[in-house]
Amino acid sequence: MLHRSLLPLGLIALLGLAPACQRAAAPATTAVPTASPLPAATVPVTARQAMVVSAHPEATRIGLEVLRRGGNAYDATVAVQFALAVCLPAAGNIGGGGFVVYRGADGAVGALDFRETAPAKASRDMYLDKQGNVIPDLSTRGHLAAGVPGTVAGMWELHQKLGKLPWRELVQPAVELATQGVRLTEKEAAGLNANRQVFFTTNELPAGFPVVGVFAAQAEGAAPYVRYTEGGHLLDVDWHAGDTLRQPQLAATLTRIRDAGRSGFYAGPTANLIIQEMLLGNGLITQADLDQYQPRWRTPLRGRYRQYEVISMPPPSSGGVALLQLLQMLEPFDLRRLGWHSAEAVHLITEAERRVYADRATYLGDPDFGRVPVAQLLAPDYLKQRMAGVTPGSGATPSAQVAAGAGLPGYESDQTTHYSIVDATGNAVSCTTTLNGAYGSKVVVAGAGFLLNNEMDDFSVKPGVPNSYGVTGGAANAIGPGKRMLSSMTPSIITEKGKLRLVVGTPGGSTIITSVLQATLNVLDYGLDPQQAVAAPRLHHQWLPDHIDVEAGALTPAAEAELQRRGYKLNPRGAWGRIDAIERQPDGTLRGGADPRGDDTAAGY
Ligand code: DON
Repeated sequence: MLHRSLLPLGLIALLGLAPACQRAAAPATTAVPTASPLPAATVPVTARQAMVVSAHPEATRIGLEVLRRGGNAYDATVAVQFALAVCLPAAGNIGGGGFVVYRGADGAVGALDFRETAPAKASRDMYLDKQGNVIPDLSTRGHLAAGVPGTVAGMWELHQKLGKLPWRELVQPAVELATQGVRLTEKEAAGLNANRQVFFTTNELPAGFPVVGVFAAQAEGAAPYVRYTEGGHLLDVDWHAGDTLRQPQLAATLTRIRDAGRSGFYAGPTANLIIQEMLLGNGLITQADLDQYQPRWRTPLRGRYRQYEVISMPPPSSGGVALLQLLQMLEPFDLRRLGWHSAEAVHLITEAERRVYADRATYLGDPDFGRVPVAQLLAPDYLKQRMAGVTPGSGATPSAQVAAGAGLPGYESDQTTHYSIVDATGNAVSCTTTLNGAYGSKVVVAGAGFLLNNEMDDFSVKPGVPNSYGVTGGAANAIGPGKRMLSSMTPSIITEKGKLRLVVGTPGGSTIITSVLQATLNVLDYGLDPQQAVAAPRLHHQWLPDHIDVEAGALTPAAEAELQRRGYKLNPRGAWGRIDAIERQPDGTLRGGADPRGDDTAAGY
């Protein structure tokens, strides 16, 4: 088992992982003095031909090996996705969903939507009590919170259309990782420890339930993700960095997927185990739901920002629409001249964000179930009018005075994951994938060893009531059978003069959109290298609540004072997001940006 941080340097060099494989630099929050928030220059990972940046060193290693063997970026996507399902249980997944945005070496672009769907038995008010109040936790924890998973169907579809190497070779590394075990990082160990009690309570098995095999432990009937001795005795003690997490049940599930493709998940033993699990916890997913699940090819959104073209995810994500709106609203201003995180720049960006998130709450939802007025939301005149009166010198507009733009037809934890891949021929993949909350619904499919998502909470469970990311919605994002819940995921690709420039994306729930915006501005407008760009402390405003979330070190005291004078409420908040980016320089060199907030790792050759 290769765990980079545990390998002696000589061995790293021998394995060809250095110098291109390197953990991200120290957290920007400590590296960046408050008095001068522009992050210090770093030495990003560089590579001549191909690169993978993902949230875990093992997944990055596996993706890079696929590329070295002659696999393309789409093959590496499949391998990284399944590897993350093993080594990043909090967010990597086969029980969730996601989006891929790609740009081929020939310039062709595409978007694959493998977002979860509401089960056929889902209904608009399913999380409300008789008085019409939201029942706490019902849409976020346990069996009812799960949407029909899309990941395996998505990977299968991507591979059918664009893959080159045999499917089984791409899933096999994940089988091995699950069988041999993965060394826990400090962050993953802390996540598992923090959730130990909930893993017990959410996955209590009634007496006599036929447990097939074992999960994350060596004993039959073991609770998931909880430490056991080799002999099967429960060790109710913390995990530590370096401990080995073995997942034999997951290995068996991945083996079925390796051998039978899509059917290894949606039919046969895995499907049976999902249905059994649903019966145990009054979940709604049926075999018919699994049979009917289809990923969808979507036409990516394309828009211009200065001399760049931005390619991003259309609905059912709000991400692409919002990113393109924000960039167009900001284009008239010379952000670079105003200064990085100056009060003037922050003011303009915040006012744009406030208006965009108000639109999101009203207009965005699953385009297969209702009209989403994308063209109108992106119309230059509309966006100009939305920013009318906002100038560098003006003050904050209270959110209470900002509604969605009139007359058009028509809060989140940190556990989604993003990876960016560029192969030696120039194909680029930007993929964000999620269980929604940390460890999703916390329900592990007994006998199959994987977590189910809690994506149902991304629907608007009641108009105007904020979800776990604090964002609200209405009819456009109401629950409906077979419908996809609105997302903020913003996997994006940016080109310049017809050439690849940036592959970027992040987890972070509702903060995804503003994080992708900031990383993009950091590279394109402020000229930061991609490592600086993803490490730089961030800000976030989402209309409601009406405050700017501020990461440590993001603002100078002078900028803070000026923003407060203009009427902004500042809300200091712990770090969010894990942006993983690849920048292609004009000479073709690739530079990686791996977010130091996580275990993110860039590697290339
Ligand atoms: O699709 C969405 O927008 C959310 N389910 C993403 C959740 C997320 O990013 C959580 N982690 N940071």
